[in-house]
Amino acid sequence: MTAKKNEKKSPVSQRPSVGFGIIGTGMIASFHARAINALANAHLVAVYGNEPESVKKFAAEYKVKAYYSLEEFLADPDIQAVTIAVPSGYHGAVAIPAAKAGKHILCEKPLEITLEKADRIIQTCEENNVLLSPVFQARFSRPVRMVKQAMQAGRFGRMVLASAQMRWFRDTAYYTKSSWRGTWALDGGGALMNQAIHTIDLLLYINGAPDTVFAFAGTLTHSIEVEDNLCATVKFRNGSFGTIEVSTSCAPGFPRRLEFSGDKGTVAFEEGRITRWAFTEPLPEDEEAKTNFTGSGVHGGSDPAQIDSMGHELQIGDLADAILTGRKPFLDGHEGRRAIELISGIYESARTGRPFKFKH
Ligand SMILES: NC(=O)c1ccc[n+]([C@@H]2O[C@H](COP(=O)([O-])OP(=O)(O)OC[C@H]3O[C@@H](n4cnc5c(N)ncnc54)[C@H](O)[C@@H]3O)[C@@H](O)[C@H]2O)c1
Repeated sequence: MTAKKNEKKSPVSQRPSVGFGIIGTGMIASFHARAINALANAHLVAVYGNEPESVKKFAAEYKVKAYYSLEEFLADPDIQAVTIAVPSGYHGAVAIPAAKAGKHILCEKPLEITLEKADRIIQTCEENNVLLSPVFQARFSRPVRMVKQAMQAGRFGRMVLASAQMRWFRDTAYYTKSSWRGTWALDGGGALMNQAIHTIDLLLYINGAPDTVFAFAGTLTHSIEVEDNLCATVKFRNGSFGTIEVSTSCAPGFPRRLEFSGDKGTVAFEEGRITRWAFTEPLPEDEEAKTNFTGSGVHGGSDPAQIDSMGHELQIGDLADAILTGRKPFLDGHEGRRAIELISGIYESARTGRPFKFKH
């Protein structure tokens, strides 16, 4: 991962640095700008969005070029990579021209709201030889990497249960203030597609692909067309089972929780806090897990802006390094589509009232 700069960054630095442009100027775009500014191997060049006043303000705040036309923005030779921070159902509409213009892409989650649209982005990036990194910043956290390593080392023995729980709270204003949130057309779903997708991604990243799901979904406390509560059972391809509970109705809102159990060990964590780390065959490094990860306390249980910004910094730094060195990014388009595939199956099961089996 990329070291932080101590001194003020200059785009004309001698060190190799990727010029980034941001598409969108809303809530998450400011996380992108701060992350880029904190990195040694990236610098912010410009911003583009569809609200001119907001673009002007954003550009002035970060002292970068403001663009009001996507074509002019994509024609800027100082921009080697773009970050996409527009409503989810518009990701493809900006990612595809960006890829065709030769720009590498960091795209916010979900990569797109359907598998077909996500695949079109992946294909266009491959055809145009540009790198694509869909955002799942939680994968970069140290506790997640430790659990993944324990799984790869076979420390859990035979996996039996892998479950995720997200009992969050979003008030009425969260949905009414924004024209895209809570809509099928632009959010692509509700609590599962928008908020819980990070948790779904971690479930798949750590425990592997799903085999079959069965789900119930409902809109219980908000006036929105998508679900605000959903519960699913999953059978994974490795033979283990799990439950997925997600909600944006659970006041006052709690940290997301994941738990993995095998016949030789169990690990549970809430956001960055490891709450259980127990293996029948302990190792010296287990002490790090038990004592070092007590959590920052930052979680989006009730406030969408409560995001630990380090994850974005690590992921953007990884993409910049991949661009500069010619390697693949840690998270590529194919990894980014896995959560969309599981979510689509869960929605299909909830819609039909039948189990949904994934193609192997
Ligand atoms: N990684 C995370 O933890 C995380 C957190 C929040 C949001 N997100 C994702 O980030 C994306 C944006 O979410 P947000 O909360 O910042 O939304 P937002 O509504 O705050 O901002 C959206 C921005 O996109 C601009 N925009 C809308 N349509 C556009 C278009 N067609 N072309 C150019 N600009 C356009 C708007 O002017 C606005 O500046 C979503 O996909 C969301 O899922 C990710």
